Parts: sequence; structure tokens; C-alpha cells
Amino acid sequence: MSKIKAEFVGSAVKPDQYPRDALPEIALAGRSNVGKSSLINRLLNRRKLAHTSGKPGKTQTINFYRVNDRFYLADMPGYGFARVSKAVKAAWGRMIEHYLTSRKELRGIVHVIDLRHPPTADDRQMYDWLKHIGLPAIVVATKADKISRGRWQKHLKQVREGLSLRSGDPLILFSAQNGQGRDELWRAIQEWL
Ligand code: GTP
Ligand code: MG
Repeated sequence: MSKIKAEFVGSAVKPDQYPRDALPEIALAGRSNVGKSSLINRLLNRRKLAHTSGKPGKTQTINFYRVNDRFYLADMPGYGFARVSKAVKAAWGRMIEHYLTSRKELRGIVHVIDLRHPPTADDRQMYDWLKHIGLPAIVVATKADKISRGRWQKHLKQVREGLSLRSGDPLILFSAQNGQGRDELWRAIQEWL
């Protein structure tokens, strides 16, 4: 996995803007500001390919990144962001729901959770819904660099219990800051391709 070819190919707010070359897709889901776009940059070894921000609500469209001409990573707007209007929230919800329920190219979801805190009601709802519609999901607990090593297991347990993960369900400890968990996530993604 030395040299990765990665290119932004476009943003979508409706289905006719999705890519048309039928490559497999893997989408990023998670709360606003949890670190979805940062995870993409770390995975692809590109500092500023996906735009990130300290403020929630940065990603507002489904953004497609073609990787090695082999598959797409689809960055999505986060959920649980209080400071947008009800109308905007509903529109994002419809857009994401339509993409996740109807997109034939979609192979799986990288569900990003903040390692520092117990999963929220929104996190649980999203995870349960993904299971319900039958989409495979890898849970990635990110921002591990913000928790001391000695407390990782306790926090991982909190994530497992909060989402009611079964023992075999994948859970990856990750940091976009230092690249921890990157190889493990690559392996998991490659199994879907
Ligand atoms: P939205 O697009 O608003 O949904 O947010 P997002 O989930 O794409 O989050 P983004 O990648 O923009 O990151 C949000 C903030 O968290 C930024 O300030 C990042 O620098 C920071 N961040 C993301 N991942 C990590 C991480 O692993 N460690 C640390 N320390 N900070 C991180
Ligand atoms: Mg983002």
C-alpha cells in the first residue's frame, strides 16, 4: 500500500450526481465533527484532500473520492448537528437515507465513533438502522490519540456496550492524527472489494 492514487471526483446532493462507472463504494457515516473527513485523508495519505474543520457541519454533500481507480470512498455529512435548521437536517437525512438504501454499488459503511465518549442516541440509531437495512458496517473508534493508552480498553468497551456490538463485530481503534489503526482499516476495506 505504498503509493495511493486518490482523486476527488465530485459532490452529490441527488442520485443523478453519483458516479456512473459502477465501481464499488464504501461510505463514511458518523456524527458531525467526529472525524470522517480526517479519516479519509489519513487513509489516503493526503493531508487536505477532504476538507475538515474544527466546527461541525463542514461536509454538506456526499463527496466521492476515487481510490486507485478501484473503488470510491463516499464522505457524507455528519448527523446530530444541532445548529442547522430543521429543513436542512431533513434534507440531509433524506439524501443520506436514499443513498444508503438504494445504492447498488455500496459495499459497506465505515461508522465513525468518538472513542472518548459513550455512543450517543444518534450513534445507536444509525448503527441499528444499518443492521436493519442489512448494510455491513465496520465501527471505527477515532481520536484515540486523545485518550491515554492505559484507558483504551475501557473506552473500547464503552463503545461496544453502547452500540450493543456482538463479540465478532469489527471495532477498530483509530487516530487520524497519528495513523493508528490505518493498516487494520485498510485490510477490512479490502475484504469488501
Ligand atoms: P463534518 O464534516 O462536520 O460531519 O465533520 P467530520 O466528521 O468530517 O470531522 P472532521 O474530519 O472535519 O474533523 C473534525 C475535527 O476533529 C477537526 O478539527 C479535526 O482536526 C479533528 N480530528 C479528526 N480526527 C482526529 C483524530 O483522530 N485525532 C485528533 N486529535 N483530532 C481529530
Ligand atoms: Mg466532514
